[in-house]
Amino acid sequence: MKKTLIKALAVVLVLTMVFSCFAAEIYAAGDGDETPFRITCTVNGDPSVSRGFTWYTKANCLSVLEISGAEGAEITYEPVFEWEGNYVHQAVVKNLTPGTEYEYTVGSKDVRSEPGKFITDDKDSSLNFVVVADVQASSEENFKKGADTCNAAYKTMPEAEFIVNLGDFTNDSTNEEWDLFDGAFSEFNRNTTLVPIAGNHDGLGVWDWFKNMFCLDTSESVQTKNGVNYSFDYGNCHFAVLNTNDLFSISLPQLKWLKNDMNGTDKDWKIVCMHKSPYTLGKDGKWPDALYLSKSLTKVLDECDVDLVMSGHDHQYLRTKALKGNKLSDDGTVYVLAGTAGSKRYEVRSFLADSFTPTEFINTLVIQKGGYGNYWNGTDWNSKDEKNIGGCFNTVSVKGGTLTFNSYILSDELTDENGERLITNTDSFTITKETGKNKATFSGDNTTSEAEYYFNVIPSFLALAAYTFTEWLPKFLWIAPNIIKVYIEEDTF
Ligand SMILES: [Fe+2]
Repeated sequence: MKKTLIKALAVVLVLTMVFSCFAAEIYAAGDGDETPFRITCTVNGDPSVSRGFTWYTKANCLSVLEISGAEGAEITYEPVFEWEGNYVHQAVVKNLTPGTEYEYTVGSKDVRSEPGKFITDDKDSSLNFVVVADVQASSEENFKKGADTCNAAYKTMPEAEFIVNLGDFTNDSTNEEWDLFDGAFSEFNRNTTLVPIAGNHDGLGVWDWFKNMFCLDTSESVQTKNGVNYSFDYGNCHFAVLNTNDLFSISLPQLKWLKNDMNGTDKDWKIVCMHKSPYTLGKDGKWPDALYLSKSLTKVLDECDVDLVMSGHDHQYLRTKALKGNKLSDDGTVYVLAGTAGSKRYEVRSFLADSFTPTEFINTLVIQKGGYGNYWNGTDWNSKDEKNIGGCFNTVSVKGGTLTFNSYILSDELTDENGERLITNTDSFTITKETGKNKATFSGDNTTSEAEYYFNVIPSFLALAAYTFTEWLPKFLWIAPNIIKVYIEEDTF
């Protein structure tokens, strides 16, 4: 009887083990789920005729992209690969028709996404786009707040053709966070063209996430592990996107790439998008990586007559007057730190004023933080405005020789007369210029070989170190007591 019981138990145990293995086998080797998720449509090459697409599936399946009305288009699929437990699909479409709205689906042979849409550049001299930065969320609630800000941006500018996201999409770049990002942004991402910029949270120490989330033209990128630098023309503007994770901010090869890239265009407007900001009064405005840009990068921007620089990283809105050589200059570059579309907002560190960022540089400063909003009015940043408590978005409109920039706050709490969340225009400026003046002075190969890149690693670090020890450190030591005071009072640097 005892033996029979033991045998019966053994049979049950073996059957359980076999069944478990069988079930695992079915799960691992079966068809799985071919439903596409994390769908994005990105700028990739010439936005009048091409786009890049990325989507993920749980199953290893064939990539299928269908674009209605694009009979002559050429689609190139990248090989599907496994990444963090999912399968990544990327495709580039070329030979589209300029100035056309397209509808598309992505997926597999059997399962397709909801339709998405995008519009190609009509190549005339007017364009409209939206700019946001630093959603940097890690909870469902905060991703939703970021998505609300982006939706409010498109409600304010329904004619926007694309959105520039200045980086820090998530906080830790984990699978869970990208799923939450996708949960909040899926419809938004599917229905516009995204110009993504790598933030430090998307790049440093979380290698390959950025290029695996967004299908970009990496042909001229100096490296791709921690972000991507690329450029494109849209209307009469030339855009260069920088990767400020490159050797902690920017390597010498990337600076060379930018100089050639900007000298290679005859477009009327030259615009640079990047994550870290050289001018800021937020808590990151005291570290040498971003501040080094005011030494190294601005030299190139000045030489190439860049009109507008947009950046993020420091979770506050700040616009400078036109600057050249770190001095006020009517024909200089305007720098915009584009606020945060998310809910993590940084206080002004007033002790940084005139140490690293001179107050005479600042045209507008809007603080979105906490239970109040500080507003820089040229002399004081202690005035309070409740309307500034919310997510920040920006719109840019270019018409020939006029560029109009507007910044807005979507209030967390206040509502308008229709009961909708209040949208307040917190900054507005225009830049005008004579068109048809820019001439391309560079042509040819602007790629960087691996050998050239690695040969320049030490010189790049030495340039950063020289700045750090000779210019940054003396100023930092001077303000160090303030930093310690803030740390004691607020438990944060
Ligand atoms: Fe950042």
